[in-house]
Amino acid sequence: MKKELTISAIKDGTVIDHIPSNATFKVADILDLKGIKSMVSVATNLPSKQIGKKGIVKIEGKYLTQEEVNKIAIAAPQATVNIIENYDVKKKLKVSIPNQISRVIKCSNPNCITNVEKIETRFSVLDKNPLKIRCHYCERDMNKEDIEIV
Ligand code: CTP
Ligand code: ZN
Repeated sequence: MKKELTISAIKDGTVIDHIPSNATFKVADILDLKGIKSMVSVATNLPSKQIGKKGIVKIEGKYLTQEEVNKIAIAAPQATVNIIENYDVKKKLKVSIPNQISRVIKCSNPNCITNVEKIETRFSVLDKNPLKIRCHYCERDMNKEDIEIV
């Protein structure tokens, strides 16, 4: 008997693979899967040759927007997004952190105008690894530890 957990292949949709284990549920959160009606599999702490332990999220019938891909890049920079069509991997995208980030992240400065008024956040990316960003409005610099994805 093969003692191995296999997660079903999907027919059409998206597979996010190579998620660092500790970011698996963050990725699920980002995609706001709570009300979804199609099949979703979330697995974490799977063995991975590349990154030790990994997470996978499979979503039948869903294709990601650029904004969702950008958010995933912030939580899981080494993730791979696979677009599945009729059981085949049609496209394999490496996520990448953009040079500018709009929305997605909350400014950590409570006095920043984006936390006081209804203004969308905007950051320039100073460093991608480790992630370091600067608020366009209050110029506060934020590191990975300060970054809250919304
Ligand atoms: N997958 C799936 N359903 C399909 C096809 C693929 O769930 N119909 C999943 C696979 O289980 C894998 C991911 O999509 O987790 C990417 O598939 P594939 O490129 O075939 O796997 P690998 O070659 O292992 O990917 P990589 O090179 O990115 O490690
Ligand atoms: Zn700010």
